[in-house]
Amino acid sequence: MKVRKAVIPAAGLGTRMLPATKTVPKEMLPMVDKPVLQYIIEEAVEAGIEDILIVTNRAKSAMDDYFDYYPELEHRLEAAGKEKELEEVKRAADLANIFYVRQKETKGLGHAIWRARRFVGDAPFAVLLGDDIMRSPKPVIGQLIDAAEAYDASVIGVQQVSDEVVSKYGVIKARPLADRLFAVEDMQEKPTLAEKFSNYAVLGRYVLRPDVFDILENQTPGYGGEIQLTDGLKKLCPENKLLAVEFEGRRYDTGNLKGFLEATIDYALDHPETGAWLKEFIREKARGL
Ligand code: G1P
Repeated sequence: MKVRKAVIPAAGLGTRMLPATKTVPKEMLPMVDKPVLQYIIEEAVEAGIEDILIVTNRAKSAMDDYFDYYPELEHRLEAAGKEKELEEVKRAADLANIFYVRQKETKGLGHAIWRARRFVGDAPFAVLLGDDIMRSPKPVIGQLIDAAEAYDASVIGVQQVSDEVVSKYGVIKARPLADRLFAVEDMQEKPTLAEKFSNYAVLGRYVLRPDVFDILENQTPGYGGEIQLTDGLKKLCPENKLLAVEFEGRRYDTGNLKGFLEATIDYALDHPETGAWLKEFIREKARGL
C-alpha cells in the first residue's frame, strides 16, 4: 500500500539547546534561511507524502503560524516588488496538507506517535523526527518507503555510529537480507556500551504499519520513565515484521549545539548566496588558528 501520510513528533522541550529554545521551538530555529522543520517537511513531500501531522505542545504555536498564509506580509512584499521573497513565504504554506495535534503530556516518543492514530487510520505511515535532518541524493524517508512497499513491513532507518555515541540511540540486532537491508531480530533503547547489540543505531526515520498503535496503547514506560517507540517496535521482531534499511545520506542531530552547527555549515556551503563566501571565510579563519 502506498505511503501518503507522515507524522512529525515535535513536542520535545528542547532542553539541549537552551536558552535559545526557551521561547522559540527548536524545530523553528533557522538553518541558514529556513527553519529546521521545513527541511523535514520538504524531505517528506519529495518522497510523495501529501498529508503531514505534526505532534506539538502548548509552546509551539510558531509552527502552525509558519505554515500558514500571512496576508499582511505578502501584500507588503508584493507592493515592494520582492517577488522571490514572496514566493518563498507562500511556498512554505503550500508545501503539504499540514495537521496538528497536541501531545498534552510529555510522555515520550511512543506516546507522541500513539497520538497520531486517528490521523493515520489503517494505512502505513512515515515518521520523521523533528530534530533529525538528512542531506542525501534521494530522500531518506523515500528509501525506507521503497522497502516498506516492496516487503509489506515496518521499516526503520539505521546507520552505524561509534562507541562514543551509541548509548544515545535505539540500537538493533539484525541479520542481513539484501544490500543495505536487514531483518531486525531485537531492539534496545539507549543501551550501555557493555549491553549494546551492535553499532547500528536508529536515526530518526521510520515507516510503520498501523498495527503499531495497538502495541503502543498498552506500552508501559521504559527508558527514562517514558513510553518508548523502540520498546513497541521490539514487539514486532519475533514475528519478522520489522526491517531496517541502512540509508544513504548524512544525518544531523539539530537538537544539540554541535549537530546544529555542523548542519548550518554544510547547508550554508551548499547555498548559492552563501557558499562561495563561506568557503573563503573558513579559509581565512583556518589560517589564523
Ligand atoms: C529518539 C529515539 C531513539 C533514536 C533517536 C535518534 O531518541 O527514542 O531510539 O535512536 O531518537 O533518532 P531521543 O534522541 O529523542 O532521545
